[in-house]
Amino acid sequence: MSGHGDPVPLSSRKGNPLRGEAHVPGDKSISHRALILGAMAVGETKITGLLEGQDVLDTGRAMAALGADVVSHGGGAWSVHGVGVGGFSEPDGVIDCGNSGTGVRLLMGAVATYPFATTFTGDASLNGRPMARVTDPLALFGAQAVGRSGGRLPLTLVGAADPVPVRYATPVPSAQVKSAVLLAGLNAPGETVVMEREATRDHSERMLSGFGATISTDVTDEGRVITLQGRPELTPQTIAVPRDPSSAAFPVCAALIVEGSDVLVPNIGLNPTRAGLFETLREMGADLTYENEREEGGEPAADLRARFSPDMKGIRVPPERAASMIDEYPILSVVAAFAEGVTDMPGVAELRVKESDRIDAMAQGLRACGVTVEDGEDWWKVTGMGAGGVPGGATVAARLDHRIAMAFLCLGMASAKPVMVDDATPIATSFPIFERLMGDLGATFTRPNA
Ligand code: S3P
Repeated sequence: MSGHGDPVPLSSRKGNPLRGEAHVPGDKSISHRALILGAMAVGETKITGLLEGQDVLDTGRAMAALGADVVSHGGGAWSVHGVGVGGFSEPDGVIDCGNSGTGVRLLMGAVATYPFATTFTGDASLNGRPMARVTDPLALFGAQAVGRSGGRLPLTLVGAADPVPVRYATPVPSAQVKSAVLLAGLNAPGETVVMEREATRDHSERMLSGFGATISTDVTDEGRVITLQGRPELTPQTIAVPRDPSSAAFPVCAALIVEGSDVLVPNIGLNPTRAGLFETLREMGADLTYENEREEGGEPAADLRARFSPDMKGIRVPPERAASMIDEYPILSVVAAFAEGVTDMPGVAELRVKESDRIDAMAQGLRACGVTVEDGEDWWKVTGMGAGGVPGGATVAARLDHRIAMAFLCLGMASAKPVMVDDATPIATSFPIFERLMGDLGATFTRPNA
């Protein structure tokens, strides 16, 4: 969990060019799903490359609380002895999902069609986030949720004793909502159907199919229609988790803005529902190339090479691309600050309900660093100051949000004056080796209290 210890401020300043190879951790989205589906299969699922960040470890503990046997073998190798669809048992205590919206929303889906009650809680960030987007569709299966005002955590979900299958059109572009409905549909009879207007990350669909569920996706004029047959027997799998493109974004973007840098980030998953940032950076004129393009475990992958790019230009990021790069807007806004001209980011209302209000967190921090930012409910614009043009020199609030903390530490590597984040501990939720990995590339961090 994050946010339960003392804050640890961390400062970042301009120093050496970034050079070398950055081996980023496993994909967070895929890691959560591997543990959850492993727990719902009959027998032993073997996982390598699991992200051992706090978010995923919390999901592992939750699966154990529901009856699965979850074992770490060290170095990202795990095994999960699943109990089968229909096999979960009522947990003894409260399920604490820490900082993880993905963890809690997927887990709510997974238990919604079981005849017992589960109580969920999290840290201050998670307990402030909207949950009705998940509990509303789960109510259609017959589950009942009682939470705090606005449906927030702590929340108790009483699962449906006699679940019915559901047809549901997601009102917001959210893979978490889609996945919660699909996971609930596993233990309901008949066909559960989810419709989404904009394509969101499709790891749940791919992995469900890999575990032997009958699931299909039809692409129609109205969007994607995903149909899942309930009550399958899931077959255990061997899963090699690809490296996380959302974590790769940090060394890639830092290399683009730090003079003289040349960084290779090997073996990154480039699922088209996740790769929007890299496309955007290339449109901005970034020197970013894909080497050794290949397929790994059914997902496209490549080695990314990023070099210092002093001539990047601001662009309008197409709103239809937002879902494929939703977690990358904080670090994109940092790159935009070092480009020439305005970067316009419309159609991103979802950023306001992430681990923090990411538009506000970045806008305030960037302004404190001397950058002009305009923002509205679902859009924001950053006026670039060119390579080396950002003053920096501020302390910014991480707001219990790993990606805000990492984005500003990257900014400090290229700004005229150092940048301090007030608390770097949330980084452990998704990228526990960030400080060491960036330091090995040449970044200069200092802990003012050490
Ligand atoms: C995720 C979906 C996205 C993303 C989150 C991970 C997932 O959230 O922001 O970091 O693994 O399904 P939304 O579904 O709320 O867009």
